Amino acid sequence: MSKFKILSVVGARPQFIKLAAMHRTIEMYSNDFEHVIVHSGQHYDFNMSGQFFEELNIPNPNYNLEIGSGHHVVQMAKCMMGLVEIFEKEEPHIVLVYGDTNTTSAAAICASKCNIKLAHIEAGLREWDKTIPEEINKLLTDSVSDLYFTPTETGRENLLKEGKIENVFVTGDISLDLITGKKTEAIASLSDEPYIFMTCHRAANTDNLDNLREILLAVEQLKYRIIFAIHPRTRKAVDRINTSWAPEHVTLINPPGFWETQAYIRNAKFCITDSGGIIKEAYFYKVPAIIIDKQTEWIETINEGWNIIAGPNTKRILAAIENWQKPEIHTNCLGDGRAGNLIIKEIHNYLNARK
Ligand code: UD1
Repeated sequence: MSKFKILSVVGARPQFIKLAAMHRTIEMYSNDFEHVIVHSGQHYDFNMSGQFFEELNIPNPNYNLEIGSGHHVVQMAKCMMGLVEIFEKEEPHIVLVYGDTNTTSAAAICASKCNIKLAHIEAGLREWDKTIPEEINKLLTDSVSDLYFTPTETGRENLLKEGKIENVFVTGDISLDLITGKKTEAIASLSDEPYIFMTCHRAANTDNLDNLREILLAVEQLKYRIIFAIHPRTRKAVDRINTSWAPEHVTLINPPGFWETQAYIRNAKFCITDSGGIIKEAYFYKVPAIIIDKQTEWIETINEGWNIIAGPNTKRILAAIENWQKPEIHTNCLGDGRAGNLIIKEIHNYLNARK
């Protein structure tokens, strides 16, 4: 019996995490599927890429397109040019894309132009602002997908509003597949001192120095110890404001790996972040996240009161931390860590029906 060939395209940090969960699931069904992995090379530093493959036991990608950094249009064009050759050679039954990066939308457009079936993991999420690069990627990808795996009911409703009713499956968040059942150990060096775990990397904050200044000002005034895991683009942006920015209560660390990040979040008093991944993971551990973006696609976590949108605004960030109160409900609205299984089952049904 011949196997179905799944081809995953990834390129940026959050996608490696989702790929790890998906690859693990595909391996469990290796009688039915083979899995080809393409890395676009959008992220290339060890901290941003290699360490995730190592610690999450993802096999080396079958291909690396080495598109690197640059203008988003150039990144996408390079990605598509590389992918078209691979798609023609590999002839996958289905292409899997994850999340909302430039790699995601480039692969989606390429698959649809090559007439290959396309499944989008993390479909249906919207931030309702087309100035956000990720929003454009979300819209492009969902406009050409054949199968939509959405983490939340809100995702399903968004797709419904756009007329997408067939092949829409609410699966919960795929990253939770890795976390559930796994204990993230406390980090010894943190002792019992309460701290805030912080990240900041979205273009709205790193390309707009007024926004970044507001965020840094809040950080300077906070009374907690702050562990700031700093993305390379944020490092460069902070340097543009002040090359010697180093408040005494702030510890700057390089972007940690997946499990270390989980430990930092799980043990934190608060998170301050613009990362969609950390917003969900904080919710999962019942740690409040103060969101330094003007919006989030993880709206359920806001509605339940666990996370707060403060935006890049000093006063609102400080007020959010001062006034936060533990909500009475926590509904696990982002799923129960079985997304991978639901996804593979639906892919199998879909491809089988087309044999
Ligand atoms: C990308 C995704 C974002 C995701 C994030 C996770 C898009 C539009 N954005 O943002 O959705 O949340 O990844 O981290 O696809 N850089 C390095 N080393 C690297 C990679 C990047 O130094 O390995 C620096 C470069 O200066 C580069 C900048 O970071 O220009 C931005 O990288 P890019 O891939 O364009 O977007 P991210 O900000 O990483």
